Amino acid sequence: MVDAPASGAGVRMDVEVRVLSWAPISQNLWMLDRLHCRIMGVMVVPDRCDQGSMMTKTLPIKDKFVLPEGMIYLDGNSLGPLPRGLEQHLSKVVTDQWGQHLIKGWNLDDWMGQPVAVGDMVGRLIGAPQGSVVMGDTLSIKVYQALSAALQMRPDRKVVISDSGNFPSDLYMAQGLIAQLNAGHELRIVAPEDVTDAITTEVAAVMITQVDYRSGRMHDMGPITQKAHDAGAVMIWDLAHSAGAVPVDVAATDCEFAVGCTYKYLNGGPGAPAFIYVRPDITPGIAPALAGWLGHDAPFAFEPGYRPAKDIERMRVGTPPVLQMAALEAAMGVWDGVDMHDVRTASIRLSELFIAEVEARCPALTLASPRDPQARGSQVSFAFEQGYAAMQALIAQHVIGDFRAPDIMRFGFTPLYLDEADIHRAVDVLADVLDNRLWDDPRFLTPSRVT
Ligand SMILES: Cc1ncc(COP(=O)(O)O)c(C=O)c1O
Repeated sequence: MVDAPASGAGVRMDVEVRVLSWAPISQNLWMLDRLHCRIMGVMVVPDRCDQGSMMTKTLPIKDKFVLPEGMIYLDGNSLGPLPRGLEQHLSKVVTDQWGQHLIKGWNLDDWMGQPVAVGDMVGRLIGAPQGSVVMGDTLSIKVYQALSAALQMRPDRKVVISDSGNFPSDLYMAQGLIAQLNAGHELRIVAPEDVTDAITTEVAAVMITQVDYRSGRMHDMGPITQKAHDAGAVMIWDLAHSAGAVPVDVAATDCEFAVGCTYKYLNGGPGAPAFIYVRPDITPGIAPALAGWLGHDAPFAFEPGYRPAKDIERMRVGTPPVLQMAALEAAMGVWDGVDMHDVRTASIRLSELFIAEVEARCPALTLASPRDPQARGSQVSFAFEQGYAAMQALIAQHVIGDFRAPDIMRFGFTPLYLDEADIHRAVDVLADVLDNRLWDDPRFLTPSRVT
């Protein structure tokens, strides 16, 4: 709904936008911009005639996804499935925007504004205020940006704390940055349960992935962030296995940085752009290490010297992946009306059922995730010596999970498109694979490049 004074052609109008829910409006704002309207304010108002769109959706919402017939997909924690309607949206972006508008698309279709507009959509799921999240690059790059900014914030301290459950790329990026700085920094990798004790007043930054990619063990963000702050350290959270999987509130946590990817639980597709959140009060003080032109305050002034943008855009680097961003934007539509607490409740119910069934029927497997559901993210892992081959045998029967060396069979639970019947069927197939040694087949014994 748009309330606008009448106006002649070529005149900018001031409008107030009233919408039923926040999530899908950015496209409409771009449209208004194209119509030369100046947005004065956006108000989310309930509408009696359309209560349905204000209501929380009942899970699962399988019809929102393209799921191959007969497949049980327990791998949304690696690559989420294709949201329904995304192909059409992407096809329109390709044909109408790229095809017809060509270079004009940067302004006409606001390709330049996408990283922040889509960042706001992701921000809604992680409790980030508007304008504090920006999309782009890969997660590894965003880890590097966050850590380099954190180390600049604590120039007198030299220790970075991480844990042995962190994803290797985060650790590699820290090692690379430390080598590059050549200023005596040390990456201290401790056991996950020792993180809190390891945070002392010599620590510059604590860089932790909330949910362990292998075991699914989940850190409590609040107390660790508090401990970091009490010790005067900067807190960086990697939310790769949290965003869209568990309720997260970065603003309440008060961490300085949060980063994550969008091809897992956010279903943005292979190679989807990463996100970075920066706590708004520290943004103006950050000197970006990757000082690309699109993080400049005035990229099209083409000044020879770097001057960072005043807001979150200073964390941008170069040209955004417009098509991937459009895919992600469409994918974010599935979250409209979905309550993360409902997702969490359903995720725990499905994971508990899976654990109980597997333990009852597959004695060869050992639970490699925390037994307490509150200490787990949205995945369950089992250890099995022939885990790789067993996973391939499972995949051959259309039950999809993945394998993490040395022996972890990993299953992701995504209540948006999984229900109890899927869990029962998956365990039937798993029991068959183990009882009948279906994994003991030369086809399944040689690891592929991607496991
Ligand atoms: C926790 C975590 N951090 C970092 C990465 C690396 O992400 P990217 O390949 O997008 O750089 C991953 C990839 O799966 C991850 O799970």
